[in-house]
Amino acid sequence: MPVVAATPQNIAHAARQLAAGRLVAFPTETVYGLGADARSGEAVARLFAAKGRPRFNPLIVHLESLDAAERYAQFDEPARRIAGELWPGPLTLVLPRRPGSGISDLVSAGLDTLAVRVPDHPIARALLRAAQMPIAAPSANRSGHVSPTRAEHVAQDFGENLLILDAGPTAHGLESTVVQIAGAGVLMLRPGAIPAEVIARVSGFPVERHTESDRPSSPGQLARHYAPRTPLRLEALDARPGEALLAFGPDLPAHDGPTLNLSPRGDLIEAAANLFAALRALDAAGARTIAVMPIPEHGLGEAINDRLRRAATE
Ligand code: TXA
Ligand code: MG
Repeated sequence: MPVVAATPQNIAHAARQLAAGRLVAFPTETVYGLGADARSGEAVARLFAAKGRPRFNPLIVHLESLDAAERYAQFDEPARRIAGELWPGPLTLVLPRRPGSGISDLVSAGLDTLAVRVPDHPIARALLRAAQMPIAAPSANRSGHVSPTRAEHVAQDFGENLLILDAGPTAHGLESTVVQIAGAGVLMLRPGAIPAEVIARVSGFPVERHTESDRPSSPGQLARHYAPRTPLRLEALDARPGEALLAFGPDLPAHDGPTLNLSPRGDLIEAAANLFAALRALDAAGARTIAVMPIPEHGLGEAINDRLRRAATE
């Protein structure tokens, strides 16, 4: 499936693809996004696999309206005011997740916060209306490449297997500004298409920026990652008394304690989809240690192992 014009029929087709768990590239006012159903862990895992990201960075969830966003994230009064002024538009708000809202844990990489935005682009909005779902979408480029401002850029990175809705070049060509409201201030996590001064004026709050010294090399690292409190024992070939077992694949060591299997059939997409929920569940099981069976290092296994190694040392 190639680059297609963003006609009503093709938008309806794209919405059906999303509902079936497939990926669709679509234009926003900032850059083209690579979209997946944010409620489906497997669709989101496929998205990470397609991007070739070696780690799980939290993603932005795109919504049709502020009302829709309130179903998934908790807005306080200042957040509602800022969204009311600047949405639709290239502003992403990082807010507490609404518990039980149905967004996959993988979308926010296990964090208790969720990044949400209402894009200001007729095709993005038409797709959100047609799909009637929250759409998780990073920029539609392969990891390490520049963000795409034209449908052709997306096609260059992903080839003919991806449905790409073409609506010409994007207006801003720069990603959305990502902010988190912290007490009586706004913390800018990523500069972007809306300048800090505009956010300061609209919110009435000072906007704090990350200084160079604490600016990590990758934007995704700005998010503090979810870390289990229970220590992890990686590459475990057995599970000991008092341990919980995070398993992978069909062959499990004998164990009476709490056990969760990331993918009984040894599928890395399924394992990625289950990773954060499983870590949280086993963290709450009161075990001394979580023994983690070896995960192959290919495909999404690299991102899963990156996450587990960091969880083991944090
Ligand atoms: O303009 C845009 O924002 C584009 C279009 C497609 O909407 N999307 C985009 O997504 O740039 P992505 O995945 O390339 O960047 C998402 C940014 C990252 O810097 C990530 O760290 C941050 O949002 N982010 C997402 N969720 C977060 C969270 N819960 N806490 C902190 N930062 C978060
Ligand atoms: Mg990006």
